[in-house]
This record gives sequence, C-alpha cells and structure tokens, in this order.
Amino acid sequence: MLIRKNKHGELPESEVTDHQIYLNRRQFLNTSATLAAGAILPISLASAAETPAATFKDIAKHDFAKGEQPSSFEAITTYNNFYEFDTSKSGPALLATEFPNKDKPWMVTIEGECDKPGEFHYDDLVRPFTMEERIYRFRCVEGWSMVIPWVGFSLSELIKKAQPNSRAKYVEFTTLYDPKQMPGQNRQVLDWPYTEALRMDEAMNPLTLMAVGIYGQELLGQNGAPIRLVVPWKYGFKSIKSIVRIRFVEHPPQTSWMKAGPREYGFFSNVNPEVDHPRWSQNRERRIGEFLKRKTLMFNGYEEQVAAMYSTMDLKKNF
Ligand code: MTE
Repeated sequence: MLIRKNKHGELPESEVTDHQIYLNRRQFLNTSATLAAGAILPISLASAAETPAATFKDIAKHDFAKGEQPSSFEAITTYNNFYEFDTSKSGPALLATEFPNKDKPWMVTIEGECDKPGEFHYDDLVRPFTMEERIYRFRCVEGWSMVIPWVGFSLSELIKKAQPNSRAKYVEFTTLYDPKQMPGQNRQVLDWPYTEALRMDEAMNPLTLMAVGIYGQELLGQNGAPIRLVVPWKYGFKSIKSIVRIRFVEHPPQTSWMKAGPREYGFFSNVNPEVDHPRWSQNRERRIGEFLKRKTLMFNGYEEQVAAMYSTMDLKKNF
C-alpha cells in the first residue's frame, strides 16, 4: 500500500499503529457517550468481544481502474464538492479541518423497513467489516474525474446485518445537519440535510462501498469523514458524505439534487456519455492532473459489473 504523509509531513498515526488502538486513541469514542449509547441500542451489529477484522495497514487491495494512475492525495483532498462547507472546490479543505468534532461521538441510525434497526456508534458500526482498498474511477457530473484509492467495506454486508424486510425497495442516506460545524448549511443552497438514495439492487451491488478512508488513512473532513458512500458507476453527487442515517423504504425517495433541479438530476444518475446534462455534454471528462480531455466510458467503465441491473430500462428516460 502507498503510505502517504499528511499535510504536516508526518506519517498518519493510522499507518504506524494498529487501527483499533488508533481509533481508541482518537477518542472518537468517549466513554460516557458509549455507555449511554449502549444503554439505548436495541441491537448491536458487532459484539464487544469481536476483534476488528482487518486494519488499515493490512487490507485486501482491488484495482478497479486498472492501468490508470491514482490521483494525488493532494488533489483528492483539496479539490472537493461538499456544499455543507462551501460551494467552491477549495473551500471544503479550508473549512473542514476540525470536522467532525472529535468530542461528539459519531452516531449512525439504521431504520425503516428492516428487522434490525438501531443507533450505532461509528466504531461499532465499522468494526464487524473487513476493510478493503479499492481503486475506483470517480466521475463528477461537472466533467472532471479522478482515480481514488478508497478504504472501506461493501454496503451489502451492512445491509445484510440490518435485515431489510420485503417492503424495503430503496435505501436512503442522510448527511449530518449541524450548521455550527458545517457553515454552508446556513445558506439555502440545497434543501438540508443532503440526502441520496439507491435502489436495493444498486445498494447490494458488490461495487457499492461504504468508504472510511483514502490512501490508507482515515477520511478527512472534506472527503466526507467519518463515513461516506462511493458508487463508482454513478456521477459523484450520488456518493453522499458524512452519513448519519440509513433508511430502508418502499418508494423511491426524492434526493437533494432532484429537488434542486429535477430536469438536471435524475434518480439513477448513471455515468452515461450518451445522455447530455441539459447544460453540457457528458461525453468527455478532464482527469484532474491531465491536460487533454478523455472519452467518458459508459457506466464510468463498470459496464460489465452493473449493466445487467438496467437492461430493461430506457436510460435516456431514466437518467
Ligand atoms: N455529499 C454531501 N453531503 N454534500 C455534498 O455537497 N457533493 C457530492 C458528493 N457528496 C456532496 C456530497 C458531489 S457533487 C461530489 S462530485 C462528490 O461528493 C465529491 O467527493 P470528493 O470531494 O470526495 O471528491
């Protein structure tokens, strides 16, 4: 694995310490909050006795963007879209340096049409899963792209543990709403909190990742710490950041971008060079760090893995 230094030139602690020790040290988990949370948790996805399945140092690696050079850590962490902080590309990295507040435990609620709902501390949520590094192409609707070595686990594994029932046809995700930590939420740029959704088969597809790291270290605030979605065959806005709620629902939910511009942002938003965005073509992209534009690939190059899910659909209507 590539080992990167952080912006202060130090090796990230996660690279030199066992991941669980590292998590404990971060005091992400504050004892009183854990006890309180433990008292209200109806179930736990992991028993306290379970040891972490893997560490960030020692994880399986899968290259799903073969032959392509990963974008630099610098580019991935300074050229961002995170409207809860700022609508510029450089703003999130400057404004999210303290995000998320380490004194507040990060809780994720799992609810809706499932047999094992609950409210989980980030550490308990993540602990049962085997971490993997997956190098994915990442294509933004605005026409730029990157190649990102994410660390995370399959969303499908988490869904299986939550045991959705037969009415669960879609999965909705919600970002934290906390204008004190996220100054962009003081402006009505979008209908906060940011929400996104997937159809159940999309959510269960093995490519769909819950990401908790990049380049072997934990996510930085601007990339959606501590946990975000990555759906590599869809435009980047589907990859919702800083998730606090996962809800199983029967009907297709409206998402923040569909509400903001229904003609421009459909529910599926699969990367598709044949369907123009109303204001620009989607058939070329600029890989950050490259000069010439390259052709955009159908489903962002993941056609073999995902095309079957849409074989009976008109992808021009269902954009
Ligand atoms: N999630 C939230 N909560 N808020 C956002 O503004 N922006 C989306 C997506 N997830 C966004 C979000 C868009 S438009 C893109 S392209 C990607 O995050 C950018 O991810 P990155 O900054 O890690 O490259």
